[in-house]
This record gives sequence, structure tokens and C-alpha cells, in this order.
Amino acid sequence: MSDMQNPSQNTPYTEHRPAYHFLPPQGWMNDPNGLIHFRGEYHLFYQHNPEAAVPRNIVWGHAVSLNLVNWRHLPIALRPDQPYDKDGVWTGCMVDDGGTPTAVYTGVHPEVQCIATSKDMVRWTKAQENPVIAAPPPGVEVTGFRDPYVWRSRDWWYAVVGSGIKDVGGTIFLYRSRDLRRWEYLEPALVGKKEETGEMWECPNLFQLGRKWVLWTSPVPLGRVIYFVGTFRKHQFQPEYRGEMDLGGCFYAPQGFRDARGRRILFGWLWETRSERMSAEAGWAGVQSLPRWVTLGRDKRLLFEPVPELRRLRRGPVSLSAQTLRSGEEIALRELSGDRWELQVEIRPQDAARCGVRLYQVADEGQMTAVFFSQAEQKLVVDRTQSSRYEEVTRDVRAAPFSLKEKEPLRLHLFVDRSVLEVYANGHTCLTSRIYPQGTGGYQPRLFAEGGNAQLARIEGWTIDAIW
Ligand code: FRU
Repeated sequence: MSDMQNPSQNTPYTEHRPAYHFLPPQGWMNDPNGLIHFRGEYHLFYQHNPEAAVPRNIVWGHAVSLNLVNWRHLPIALRPDQPYDKDGVWTGCMVDDGGTPTAVYTGVHPEVQCIATSKDMVRWTKAQENPVIAAPPPGVEVTGFRDPYVWRSRDWWYAVVGSGIKDVGGTIFLYRSRDLRRWEYLEPALVGKKEETGEMWECPNLFQLGRKWVLWTSPVPLGRVIYFVGTFRKHQFQPEYRGEMDLGGCFYAPQGFRDARGRRILFGWLWETRSERMSAEAGWAGVQSLPRWVTLGRDKRLLFEPVPELRRLRRGPVSLSAQTLRSGEEIALRELSGDRWELQVEIRPQDAARCGVRLYQVADEGQMTAVFFSQAEQKLVVDRTQSSRYEEVTRDVRAAPFSLKEKEPLRLHLFVDRSVLEVYANGHTCLTSRIYPQGTGGYQPRLFAEGGNAQLARIEGWTIDAIW
């Protein structure tokens, strides 16, 4: 393995550095970009500063995978080297233009949309025609103009560009083109209300999913991802349902793509919730979420599950038989402890006010993070108020509205990867969090119920191999 694939392990806080999530060899990473399944390979580009763990001089980093699990780093794809992108090669997407991979991205100061093409996915040429969209639509005062998302429909390319209309709300401007170079502005496909859905819509994705259309975006200043499910006709998106993609407080700017098997898969940026000083010392910041497979539920909610390919990393399993979780007691899954594991639990809450899993730092139980269903409050909660002894990390409580249908058990699916905790519940609710305990060794999971007994129906866990 080259040095590039296997970064130095001698930096501080290695115990927090994820081992089976994607991250660059070093430096800063934010949004996933340019996701495409091309000639049998999955390509992941990303917003990156290779020099330091701070968001400056942003380039497009690049990695490739055959299975969405194991990644190979490739050379930096796009750098700020033109007058129109000298201050950063910002977020964008990738399309296959009749065999030519074409990146569509934002150059900044001012924000303009640009393209670059490649023959081999490694060397990239920026188009003569850049910037291909040189300004926002005339006559509107915008709060931003970036993150193009492009798709093909019959003879046209369509693009939406994330934006906002001053004092009104976030929006996506719709464009079309025959050749990805000359773009015709159509209209805003949807305009939100500032008070409800923010003032500027970053990183929009608009695509068909089954019989519906989906729009998701990361609105400024909400700092989280909202989605709409609805229809898209005559250049207008009509929302029928609005949902939240992940209320853990650490998940942002997801991008999705359709793979050769027809699956809609997304990655999202998991930002750090430790101090800048800690990230600077560690020499890296930012992780990609596990690849999530997105489908449409019957009730128009989106459903999210980690792609099944990830199962190849499992070692184990360890399991426990069905039993009662007595109020105030804990049941430990002794064989499962460490800094990389996966856990699937099925619990019938019965009359427990709260039930779920606590993660204890193995050498210091004073550091504990809890993931539970509060039946009393009808919420799914991640409580990291006691998750670390470090002063410089966020320790808060995050929750998503959550209820179970008659006889429906609580189904929790947890992924622990050092400082990453991804929680998937009952297919539709995700809470992704970052936790930074002091000390090595990882975590020990224990099941618990409070304010009444619950019934443990099924539990299975695995340790997870490292990919780096
Ligand atoms: C979202 C974002 C995008 C922008 C990029 C810059 O996190 O702010 O809107 O293109 O990051 O790195």
C-alpha cells in the first residue's frame, strides 16, 4: 500500500479516526461530489483541502471503488487554477455525456457554474466555454448561487442550481441545455418560505424515485437536510410531503446517484463536532457517511438503509436470545466491545418509558452515549451529554419525532466507527452523531429499559473490519 492509501498513524486522536468510513489520507473534507457508477466503478469526489484540516483552497479529491466498501485514493481531480474558480472548486455533480464523464461544479467569487471533462477519469480538462452559467437569473436578488445538479430527460439536460431569493426563501433555479455548455434559464422549480425552510438551499438533488419525484437540500442556516416528495411537471416541483433526512446534527450536504443496478444511493458529509484545535492537531476533519440506499415508503416517507455490500466487513456474529429487559437494569453484550462494530436490535417497548442501547467507553464508564426510544415523548434520542471528558467537544441531546404502529417493534441498527455513530431506526429515521471519548479501546454496548419493562426480541452484533 502506498503512503497515500495509508496515512500516518502517529498523529494525536487516532482513536477518533474512522476505520471503515471513507475519508481522505489527510486534511479537510466536506461535501460528497460527482458521484457516479461509471464503467463498473463507483467514483466518489469530494470537497477537500489536502494541506490542512480547515476549509480553504478547496479542490475535488477523488476515490474509486468496485463495491462501495473498499476505496482507492486517486489523484486530485480539480484544482482552483482558472480565473473563474481560483477561490475554490466547489460542489457539483457528474454526468455521463455519451461516454464522456463531465463534472458540473461551482467556481466562486462570484459564484458561477463550470464544467470539466475527462477521458480516463484521472486527467480533467476545464471547458473553453466556462463559466457555462455566468450569473444568476437577472432581476432577482439572490442569497447564493451554487451546487449544480444535472440530469438527462429525453433530448435535454436539466440542471437545478441551489439558491435563495432575498427576504423570500430558498429556491432551486431550473435550466436546460442540449450540450451542457449553452444553458437556457427556465424558472424557479420551487421557492420555499424563509421562516420554514431557510434562506438559501445548498446542495439540492432533484430526481425521480418510483412514481414520485424527490427534492432534498441542505438549507442555510438550518444546518440539516430536508426533503420533499411530490411531483415534477411543467418545470414545477409540487411537494406532497416534507421530511427530515437525519436529525443527529452531524449530517449535511448529501449527494445521491443511481447505480447500474438502479439503486438510488447517497453519501452525506459527517462534520466534526470537536474544536478546530483538536481537528488541526489530528490533521484531518470530515468523514463520509456509509452509503445509504434510498427508497420510497408507502406513506411517501423516504426509507434509508446502509447498502448490503457493507456486510462483507462483518466478523461474528454475536447474539442474545429473546428476554425481558427489566426496568432499571442493563444487559451487556459482552463479546461485542471495541471501536468498530455494528448492532441490530429489536425491542418491544411494552410499558417502558425509555428503552435502547447505552455505549460505555470500555476503560472509563463515566463516558457514555445513549441511543433510545422515548415512548413517553414519542422520540428517538441520541444523548451525548456524558459522551466525553473533553471540554472541547459538543455534548448535547438530539432527537427525531418517532412513533411505532400497533405491534411494531423498535428496530435499531447502529454502526460505531470510533468517532462516528450512525443510527438507523425502523427504516425511516436516521440520527448520525460524532462522539469523542478520551482513551482508546472503544465502546461496550448495553441494552436498557427504564420506567417499565421492555421485551428484547432479537439482537445481533458484529465487529467490523477496517478498510484502511
Ligand atoms: C455545503 C457547501 C456548498 C459549497 C461547498 C463549499 O457544505 O457550503 O454549498 O459548494 O460546501 O465547500
